[in-house]
Amino acid sequence: MSTALVDYCRSELEALRSARTFKKERVLEGPTGARVRVDGRDVLMLTSNNYLGFANHPRIVEAARKALGRWGNGLGSVRFICGTQELHKELERTISAFFGTEDTILYMSCWNANEGLFQPLLSEEDAILTDGLNHASIIDGIRLCKAKRFVLPHGDLAASEKALQEAQACRRRLYMTDGVFSMEGEVGPIPQLVELCARYDATLVVDDSHATGVLGATGRGSAEELGAMGKVPVFTSTLGKAMGSAAGGFTTGPGPLVELLRQRSRTTLFSNALPPAVTASSLEAFRMLMEDPSPVRKLRENARYFRERMAAEGFDIPKGVHPIVPVIVGDTARALAMSAALFEKGVYVSGFGFPVVPQGHARLRCQISAVHSTADLDEAVDAFRAVGKEFGAI
Ligand SMILES: Cc1ncc(COP(=O)(O)O)c(C=O)c1O
Repeated sequence: MSTALVDYCRSELEALRSARTFKKERVLEGPTGARVRVDGRDVLMLTSNNYLGFANHPRIVEAARKALGRWGNGLGSVRFICGTQELHKELERTISAFFGTEDTILYMSCWNANEGLFQPLLSEEDAILTDGLNHASIIDGIRLCKAKRFVLPHGDLAASEKALQEAQACRRRLYMTDGVFSMEGEVGPIPQLVELCARYDATLVVDDSHATGVLGATGRGSAEELGAMGKVPVFTSTLGKAMGSAAGGFTTGPGPLVELLRQRSRTTLFSNALPPAVTASSLEAFRMLMEDPSPVRKLRENARYFRERMAAEGFDIPKGVHPIVPVIVGDTARALAMSAALFEKGVYVSGFGFPVVPQGHARLRCQISAVHSTADLDEAVDAFRAVGKEFGAI
């Protein structure tokens, strides 16, 4: 057997370790919530997408448990062969009602939704315009499609307009943006993009993975947040963050577009159906949010409180409203060392450095949840103050 490939892997891993960018998994000893158990200790969880605290909510867990009894563990099939249950249809109808769209298609993840989106809809004669900071799944999805690509400087509306003008020569235009940019907690300029896309006959698609259940008065996401609800024709989003935190994703939009994805999108055609327990728990998450959006208000209030307290301590925090609160600390080694020191003080928060974020902008990415109490947030600020001073970040 040739050892060339394994030798290559070994040397790459060594390089990652010496650059201190090797990612080590921490093993949780129980479910996730405001606190988690790791290495025999309870620590404050400040780095999870469990925005609404639904990950281990009794109603969500019970919905999954009941679905296992009623619908079984899985279908052993992709959707179009023999993998569709009434449960899938019900979740798709519920998501469409939530967004005010015509139809929805579920995927195993939003990664799959994005990867399977472009190739069925666009070909050589068409154009995709994409924000330069869009999620990796969008980048990979676009790579699978032969349309002409316009990669736009992040958030640059003038460049977007220029590209849209150039793309008038193409047959169809699709403009893709994250609703919330996940390293920044920054909400995209949705109303301006709605307007630009209308002017240049392009279809706007917003990946609202960090906005569904998070932004807007009722958790309907970035468009609701910015007063553009009903004006974005297509959304992709995840069920793995606010909406139950397990797995799953979807594309929701005009009926014919979603139906064509059902017919041609390779990540649904050649991949198993979403398991019943996950489908049912996500359905319960939408029901809970539609019955009572107060956790979204609590999340907002928690994010505001933490942002204000951290800024008052002197930390460098980009302005915003989102529960992703990046604490910029400079270089990657410092971010990782601070993350380790915070963990020692009982606060679990991840550090991100180059190449995930630009050189010199390494950060600790805090993520606030509706289930954090004020005492939890105060505890996090106290730990940050101590570690920030120790590392010269404040
Ligand atoms: C903007 C965005 N899109 C897509 C995804 C992928 O979502 P999933 O975990 O459902 O594959 C993520 C997850 O990190 C994300 O942040």
